[in-house]
Amino acid sequence: MLSAVARRRVLARAPVWRASSSLLRQRWASTTVSLNLNSVTEADLAHFSSFLAPSSILSTLSPSNTPADELTAFNNDWMGKYKGKSTMVLKPRTTEEVSRIVKYCNEKRIGIVPQGGNTGLVGGSVPVRDELILSLSNLNKIRSFDPVSGILVADAGCILQSLVDYLAPHNHIMPIDLGAKGSCHIGGNVSTNAGGLRLLRYGSLHGAVLGLEVVMPDGTILNQLSTLRKDNTGYDLKQLFIGAEGTLGVVTGVSILTPVMPAATNAVVLALPSFDQVIPLYKIVKRDMGEILSAFEYMDRNAYTLSVKHGQGKALSEEETEGAQYFVLIETSGGNKEHDEEKLSNLLEKVMDPDTGLVTSGVLAQSPTQFESLWAIREGIPEAVGKAGKAYKYDVSIPVSKFKEIVDKTREHLQSKGLLREDAVKEVVSYGHFGDGNIHLNIAAAAYTPEITAALEPFVFELVASYNGSVSAEHGIGYAKTSALGYSKDQTSIELMKKIKKLFDPNGIMNPWKVLPH
Ligand code: FAD
Ligand code: MLT
Ligand code: ZN
Repeated sequence: MLSAVARRRVLARAPVWRASSSLLRQRWASTTVSLNLNSVTEADLAHFSSFLAPSSILSTLSPSNTPADELTAFNNDWMGKYKGKSTMVLKPRTTEEVSRIVKYCNEKRIGIVPQGGNTGLVGGSVPVRDELILSLSNLNKIRSFDPVSGILVADAGCILQSLVDYLAPHNHIMPIDLGAKGSCHIGGNVSTNAGGLRLLRYGSLHGAVLGLEVVMPDGTILNQLSTLRKDNTGYDLKQLFIGAEGTLGVVTGVSILTPVMPAATNAVVLALPSFDQVIPLYKIVKRDMGEILSAFEYMDRNAYTLSVKHGQGKALSEEETEGAQYFVLIETSGGNKEHDEEKLSNLLEKVMDPDTGLVTSGVLAQSPTQFESLWAIREGIPEAVGKAGKAYKYDVSIPVSKFKEIVDKTREHLQSKGLLREDAVKEVVSYGHFGDGNIHLNIAAAAYTPEITAALEPFVFELVASYNGSVSAEHGIGYAKTSALGYSKDQTSIELMKKIKKLFDPNGIMNPWKVLPH
């Protein structure tokens, strides 16, 4: 059983709002460009069969004749929103095989979609049309681990959880953690520059990744698989592939710095009466927890309720959460159990003091199982939203002071359009990485419809731009947000990005129609 301490409630205040500029609307324009790419043919299948094992090829073309439903999982994204029509999935076992596939596709002008665990949330991991799917799932070996430096070198197709399991007996952890860890690949994490639940503590992959091996769009193998902490020899090319979402090449190997496993971890979920308490609480937690703070996650009442409703975990009793409008999950990771527990218990005493009015109630994990079940509430939200309906996902960076406002304004806007009803928009929820200034605004709808899309976009992007935020904090641009790129990047930057793309991939075969406006 989880131990819980009930405290008191405070009333919420009304939000303040300013309208966004109509000038921003101009940034929404986009044009479609034909890329002159070719479909995969039976002759191409014959070529791939000449050097790949039969088990590395799934194709509905003859003579493979794989049943179409075996390709369904590769053609459809995690949300069930984006659907490709690829007739071929290749699963190479070595970097050399990847290189031969890519070189051939470049010569034949065949579009390639690199695919990791296919957990991406912006439609980047599935074909727009019938591009060839290059799955990295068979490239899944650990190449080396140095227990002194903590540097791990692994194939791109290693599943994140498998790397966590490999490192545990060596007393190390991965510097990244996310709800999709059981499926996503380290190559996918790098290619999306995934953020996740502990970025607050261990920083971004732009810092943790020390080197990459990449198959370039012409098939050349770029060996940047450094295991050095420091290397100031000119341009740091690997950084371009971190977050490139497969548009510049195929990541085949990753060298990454892994932290030592903390000796003690603790987790606490706190219920707050209103948004007014979240920022003051965060300031206290940051100051008092200092170096041991490893996560400060946030969820509004609707997100919490949805997660509990759909069986993703249960923390506090209904009585204890009565009137609570926001919840935070605080995690500490440190080197001294007693010291950390004392710090946390002093913090809880302070924030639960009825005189501060900061926290309604809270629950502190008393065992590893309880620790997992508290995290399950937060990590289970994406799945719960998916169970509630079709998810419109906005993963944005904005000032934390605007976290409530963006949700209120979106809900009001949907209401004004008459869309807040059971057969249209069912839920508007928010959650995210408060400590990183990254909120996930999710709208669960009865179906994906042009009417709901038009109500939300560019409305949400304009709001984000009016806060000087980013339209993608961590999920990337993919296919879903290409038209919104201009809200967060100026024209000079976009033109430079296009030039880099042209230089690396002159034939435009790598993940076509993704990231850049088209
Ligand atoms: P995929 O989905 O297969 O691909 C994602 C993109 O990367 C695509 O554009 C693809 O072409 C490209 N790509 C994949 N592998 C390679 C490669 N080897 N070389 C070149 N390009 C490649 N994201 C976060 O940032 N933080 C979170 O907290 C988070 N939590 C999530 C929780 C859930 C339940 C789910 C479903 C998703 C979550 N995500 C999160 C989104 C997603 O899991 C991450 O973006 C993840 O990094 C994608 O990895 P993947 O292997 O599944 O990549
Ligand atoms: C999360 O923080 O849970 C992930 O980024 C996934 C999501 O936003 O749904
Ligand atoms: Zn997230």
